[in-house]
Amino acid sequence: MKVFIARPFHQPAAKLLNSKYDVEVWKETTTPPPEILKEKVSTCHAIMTEGFDPINKEILASAENLRIISNRAVGTDNIDIKEATQKKILVGNTPGVLHDSCADFTMGLILSLSRNIFRSAHMVKSKKWEKLDQYSYLGSDLHNKTIGIIGMGQIAQAVAKRCKGFETRILYFSRTRKLELEKSLGLEWCDDINDLLKTSDIVSLHLPLTDTTRHLIGTRELSLMKKSAFLINTSRGAVVNQNDLVTALKNNSIAGAAIDVTVPEPIPTNHPLLSLDNLIITPHIASAAKSTFENMGIMAAENIISALSGTPMPSCINPEAL
Ligand code: GLV
Repeated sequence: MKVFIARPFHQPAAKLLNSKYDVEVWKETTTPPPEILKEKVSTCHAIMTEGFDPINKEILASAENLRIISNRAVGTDNIDIKEATQKKILVGNTPGVLHDSCADFTMGLILSLSRNIFRSAHMVKSKKWEKLDQYSYLGSDLHNKTIGIIGMGQIAQAVAKRCKGFETRILYFSRTRKLELEKSLGLEWCDDINDLLKTSDIVSLHLPLTDTTRHLIGTRELSLMKKSAFLINTSRGAVVNQNDLVTALKNNSIAGAAIDVTVPEPIPTNHPLLSLDNLIITPHIASAAKSTFENMGIMAAENIISALSGTPMPSCINPEAL
């Protein structure tokens, strides 16, 4: 059977797959062009993709023998799941191996933003440290503050765990209430997202992108937040209405934002977001710690091996495709 791996970075995963299948590895470091993806979904039984590779209806129209799309990501919004399911193609993802890395990164963003670490370090490196002046860099403490976490999946839980260590009050809003976690992590449930937005000093988003969560945060939500509050987004860019975020940051209707995800990615160099001082943007790297990157690749390979051998996949998001 033929397997296509859409990046050259995943040697341990490729080694696993090589021992069983005829494996082709894309040599470039960016998404294969649509014509290549079309060819691969038509000739291969499995493809291993990155979370940014668009596997849409048009690409899937060429799928003939494809049995699995194995995404090296937890999010699968890059794939037309409905179409894949209709074509009896399984979709795999990689939860359970990246939440701690994403949570570490989220804490990094929170502290970089609230304590002006990024802004002040940038000032020093730009050779603008001309006088000793702490006043221009007075930040906001994390301890004793209130964080509002939206979503309470694995990444959100790992963020909450870390925030407990920082002695923050932790509010959360999610589809399902998690009583056990409320006890063990001291979380407080908000059944109304507006209450969380109004009360939190930091709002952190940890949701998949779906029709329900697209533009969940826009002008109305941003205006409910405190003027001193920060927004952190490591989920998907489209969970926030980006134009509304630009306006809110320009008007200082919130104090700042740190985002690891944008629409589109990469963000165009002339985008208004890039001219804002109260914003940190990183290039979608929350999970990108060495060992996590490798483990995600291995899990994606294991999803392929299970799907092609007809055994239960470590993580399948559309088992009904069978
Ligand atoms: C990264 O964004 C992922 O979905 O794993």
